[in-house]
Amino acid sequence: MKYRHLTSPITINGLTIRNRLMQTAHNRHYARRGAESERDRAYVEERAKGGIGLLTLGNHIVHPTGMGGGHPGVAFTFLPEAQQPLRATVEAAHRHDARIFLQLNHFGGSITSNPDDYRVLWAPSRSVSILSGEQSKAIELEEINAVVSAFAEGAVFAKQAGVDGVEIHVAHGYLLHSFLTPLTNRRADNYGGALENRLRITREVIAAVRAAVGPEYVVGVRLSLSDEMPGGMEVDQMAAAARLLVDDRMIDYIATSSGQGAMFWVGAQTGFAPPGFLLDKLARFKKALPDIPVFAVGGIDDADMAEAILAEGKADMVAITRGQIADPEFARKVVEGRTDEIRHCIRGNQGCLAHAIRGAPVTCTVNPAAGREAIFGLGTLKPADSPAVWLVIGGGPAGMKAAEGLAERGHRVTLVEREALLGGQLNINILQRGRASWNVLRTDLERNLTRLGVTIMRGLTADESFISTFGADAVLLATGAYADRSGWSSVSARIAGLEQAHVLTLWEAIQEPARAGKKVLLLDDEGAFRIGGAALRMQEAGSHVVHVSRLNALLPGTMTTTDMPPLYTALFGNGLESHLNSWARRIDGRSVTIFNLYSGVEVVIEDIDTIVLGTPRHPADGLYYKLKGRIDRLYRIGDCLAPRTTDHAVYEGFLAGRELLGWEKRPIFEGDRDALLPTAVPPTALIG
Ligand SMILES: Cc1cc2nc3c(=O)[nH]c(=O)nc-3n(C[C@H](O)[C@H](O)[C@H](O)COP(=O)(O)O)c2cc1C
Ligand code: SF4
Repeated sequence: MKYRHLTSPITINGLTIRNRLMQTAHNRHYARRGAESERDRAYVEERAKGGIGLLTLGNHIVHPTGMGGGHPGVAFTFLPEAQQPLRATVEAAHRHDARIFLQLNHFGGSITSNPDDYRVLWAPSRSVSILSGEQSKAIELEEINAVVSAFAEGAVFAKQAGVDGVEIHVAHGYLLHSFLTPLTNRRADNYGGALENRLRITREVIAAVRAAVGPEYVVGVRLSLSDEMPGGMEVDQMAAAARLLVDDRMIDYIATSSGQGAMFWVGAQTGFAPPGFLLDKLARFKKALPDIPVFAVGGIDDADMAEAILAEGKADMVAITRGQIADPEFARKVVEGRTDEIRHCIRGNQGCLAHAIRGAPVTCTVNPAAGREAIFGLGTLKPADSPAVWLVIGGGPAGMKAAEGLAERGHRVTLVEREALLGGQLNINILQRGRASWNVLRTDLERNLTRLGVTIMRGLTADESFISTFGADAVLLATGAYADRSGWSSVSARIAGLEQAHVLTLWEAIQEPARAGKKVLLLDDEGAFRIGGAALRMQEAGSHVVHVSRLNALLPGTMTTTDMPPLYTALFGNGLESHLNSWARRIDGRSVTIFNLYSGVEVVIEDIDTIVLGTPRHPADGLYYKLKGRIDRLYRIGDCLAPRTTDHAVYEGFLAGRELLGWEKRPIFEGDRDALLPTAVPPTALIG
């Protein structure tokens, strides 16, 4: 058996879990009125059906001072009415023999106060939230007691709802972790100073939880393997703290992660980090803690790697958290030896973490059914009423996804791509550092198209005559976008002097960075990853990059995906020069005049070899307008409608596969309904 370790059960404090594949705690922001929603239930049930051994519900807030206002969509354990919805979610997992834990948390001083009542944030010492800049107060002794009791009450709440175990959150810089690390704990009382003191509140919480739930119930902790910051705790110190907890004999497992505060992003890194990016630290940690189950996590994206982690004794369970957002049937495919059918996570964080950080419902770039399981989950794909011949033009993510869905439903599909390679803009994007991990989106889709018998015509430009001769029943255009040379942007319609040979598009700069020359001026109308990725690529080819952006921050679009820290590190390390709140007025040979958008003050930048246009792409919609009115069933999706993200493209391809074409066929989601319906008033418990 190839995956002997992964598929073997494990028993933790009397609870048997059917295999070693899990998802660590992750908050999906589907909760409504402080309780699990139908969307949570459907999400959990999908993964339970898909064969997962264990999943942990993320961040359930134990006390009103711990919820903040930055994370709408989290559930609370202090609302009695939240217990029944939680029970429904738990039963959904149990129906398919999966086990389910619940993470208990208090956000501490790391976020922002609730916008309704402005409760002051509690932290070990007076501090400033890196996310909001809001100042918290040092928690007082009677308040510590209230927090300890709240964790215990939260554990009872979960146990009564049928949850299989609770996890106390001591990671990511939230309240308990912020006591543990000397970076944020400057207390002079029994809760500050030496490790034993900094760990005191965590031990009190564990003892109270254990007393409340009894000895035969699973209680675990989540610990960061490192603070990931100078002056903070490194892996050996974390292992020493864990040793104290293990020797207290009150916890049953440790789920690992990493980072805190400004380094919170290290636990869920994008493609800038290699697969399995926490494994070295994990191995060291586990070596010091052989006597307790330890859960591995962090960009573990394939079954072979997961199996090796277990076989080498680096961990006792393996979390593939984003990987099972991307493919809820990951575990079943492993058990059945169908790993070649897995749909892989691209580690872009665009659909998941970026949504979560914005407080929006989590979904997934590669799996449009994630978070939409009730409508699009397993078993919802119905065969076509009348199988037809479909011609899909454009083999980027939208076209490939559409062809996949149409073929799965029994249509005869031909996909035409102008280039020799499928993938469209993806093939340009993956040239950028941090984006190579996105290539699996193309290879997974291409593999499926082959399996489904889609006819793929590469290197062919489908024009009007080809399309009319082909005689399809329906034509779907997914012709993408092209790089616009006009200089049109959200600031101005044109830039004087633009029509010169040394003006390049962003794609040209990414594909042929050596053309940029010694000094390049990069115009940025978007603040998105592709601008930073292009800048880095040119820097690495030897250019000095002068970045000129209309925005008031550098690449703000990379903040929520957490690409920002590694991107900034690389860009500034390579000497990036940046002019914010600015735009180009005119180009005179090697001189470019830029101006401040607010003061109008002009600055001339000299000795520029090339100007690169990070301006909006143009929809490739020419074919659509030529065919409109001449073909009955003509549709268009993705960037040829309006150039947007890969998430938009894949989602529209997915809808097209189900023939949900046109705005009137698109579903209204639970979150949309909350926003739309007048009944969506805040519950009284939150107002008081
Ligand atoms: C959308 C999202 C929400 C998350 N929410 C939580 C959470 O509530 N609690 C927590 O401890 N970790 C949370 N995490 C971190 C994950 O548990 C996990 O450590 C991270 O995704 C890295 O593992 P992976 O590479 O297998 O995805 C979250 C991650 C994501 C992507
Ligand atoms: S949105 Fe991206 S990073 Fe998140 S689970 Fe999906 S593929 Fe992975």
